[in-house]
Amino acid sequence: MNLPDKKQLSLPTLDKIELDHGVNFESHTYWGVRDPQRFKELMQEAITLVTTTHFLGDNLFTWQRNNSMLEDKPFRRAWEENLLNSSDEAIVWRRYILACAAYHCLHVPGDFVECGVYVGTGIKTVMDYLGGPEFPKTFWGYDTYDYNPVEGHAFAGQQEGLYDAVCERFKEYSQVRLVKGFLPQSFENNIPDQVAFLHIDLNNVEGEIAVLDTLFERVSPGGIVILDDYEWSGPYRPQKQQEDQWFDQRRYRIFPLPTGQGVVLKR
Ligand SMILES: C[S@@+](CC[C@H](N)C(=O)[O-])C[C@H]1O[C@@H](n2cnc3c(N)ncnc32)[C@H](O)[C@@H]1O
Repeated sequence: MNLPDKKQLSLPTLDKIELDHGVNFESHTYWGVRDPQRFKELMQEAITLVTTTHFLGDNLFTWQRNNSMLEDKPFRRAWEENLLNSSDEAIVWRRYILACAAYHCLHVPGDFVECGVYVGTGIKTVMDYLGGPEFPKTFWGYDTYDYNPVEGHAFAGQQEGLYDAVCERFKEYSQVRLVKGFLPQSFENNIPDQVAFLHIDLNNVEGEIAVLDTLFERVSPGGIVILDDYEWSGPYRPQKQQEDQWFDQRRYRIFPLPTGQGVVLKR
């Protein structure tokens, strides 16, 4: 079994929580809002009408939740130290889903994989939560990096030189393998035999189904697959339509999360 040696890796621990108070979270980075200023004013008023604790961010407003990600200090540190923009901040709950799945998958045989890396903030947040440069597994990161193959979807900095910059970001992390190229072709000669953790975040269903076609059978029993956009509607609905069908044929159900992610537990 490919388990981390407890002596070599000190896993993050949870502090005792106070029962009489919790942590609120508020980010005003939204997607799909017609009048952001008016929306912000309304949300700020809505917050005054609910009992604590509230969470607002990443198109999610909820209250009377623990906001566990903000009470897990090692996670909070890893998340804060890797913030590069306001979106990274807003998606803290999504990041914590990755971090908790990763904690679980450290104990499952196989490597870690992210398909759709961009600048690597997701990978780095997870690794820094679980040991930083001492993270005990190989972590593969697949992306075209220097351009975005999805028309109209290029993110800030997606131009020649991005791949080199991401390699530089991970220079202290010898277990990271950044594979540059278009998926699924870039899997050729660059693919783990066994996968414990698979995060798919390509923002296009063709690429994501191609990744599943190649990698799902390599995911170990007990491993976790996270589909970043599965539960987002609008332009992402094709992901739900086709990924539901793909998993249904294999007798799996995707767990739809309020964060917009979908989770599959491999048997
Ligand atoms: C939303 S970003 C990934 C964000 C990253 N997972 C994070 O947590 O910060 C999506 C990425 O998928 C990449 N991508 C989309 N389709 C691809 C394909 N077929 N092959 C390789 N990369 C692809 C894009 O270049 C882009 O960087």
